[in-house]
Amino acid sequence: MSSLVEFKATAPAKIILFGEHAVVYGKPALAVPVSSLHVSVTATPADKTIIEAADLEQTLPDGMSADELTDPLLRMISTTAHHFGMQPPKMRFSIASSIPVASGLGSGAAVSAALGRAVALALGQDISAEALNSLVYDIERIHHGTPSGIDNTVIVYEKPVYFIRGQNPQTFEVSHPIRLLIADTGRTALTRESVGDVRKLVMSEPSRINPILDAIAYTVDVARDALAHGDNVSLGRLMVENHALLQHLTVSSPELDRLVKTALDAGAIGAKLSGGGRGGNMIALVTPETESAVTAALILAGAVRVISTIVG
Ligand code: PMV
Repeated sequence: MSSLVEFKATAPAKIILFGEHAVVYGKPALAVPVSSLHVSVTATPADKTIIEAADLEQTLPDGMSADELTDPLLRMISTTAHHFGMQPPKMRFSIASSIPVASGLGSGAAVSAALGRAVALALGQDISAEALNSLVYDIERIHHGTPSGIDNTVIVYEKPVYFIRGQNPQTFEVSHPIRLLIADTGRTALTRESVGDVRKLVMSEPSRINPILDAIAYTVDVARDALAHGDNVSLGRLMVENHALLQHLTVSSPELDRLVKTALDAGAIGAKLSGGGRGGNMIALVTPETESAVTAALILAGAVRVISTIVG
């Protein structure tokens, strides 16, 4: 039976179109929300502050400050309340998510964003996108160590974003919608690890790695123009180039390479890994005519899930 008082908040998944990893070093990146996948949080009155998801239930210990909390979800509730100078609301926050975890779709940031919104609603407050973004970023740091901030930004603003670390995010409209397939290798991979390995490369071989980061930045800027002009042929070529540059950064994997090649052989205009790499997802740019053949080929090549989404 549903409670009389109930607050609901949601947040979408995201994918990075261009520029992952280089974005950690101040280069630009392009990312878009994926609204067909989302987290939803429902808050109902309770005796304590409780978080409930498919496989967990946790209660906020009495009198604990946000800084003392290591659990990212409890901490998000606590810091959001603290942002308003208030105590966490005594409510049960039930989380439901259709976003696969640890696969480059931003599930952690989406949970935090939806939780922050639900807490604000429960406290009768409005939370600005800017404030929420900063709170979610702080939680992302628990998950990822040194995140660039692109995930929380695209998820909180729910718009395509041209992102440079430390600068105000530039949201934009995609005037010529594109059709993407997001295919999951079925292998989970920790972004923290691939980011750490790239950092080691940057430190140990700067003269070889910095030009790769510059080349990625170039593909991002050209891709932004191609997106604005509906130039899908250039977009596809740039995806393939960006994938090759990510291979040089050692963040691809045999599974990702196989799915990228399979998509291209089956008629995709472009394909690349998306996000942290080493596993997780790849994306393929398709048309209504090629979509089903590319989907079938990806499944045959081992993709455990293929999601179709229209960006724009
Ligand atoms: O694995 P994801 O989708 O969360 O993407 C991480 C993107 C990186 O550029 C690899 C890291 C970052 O913090 O931007």
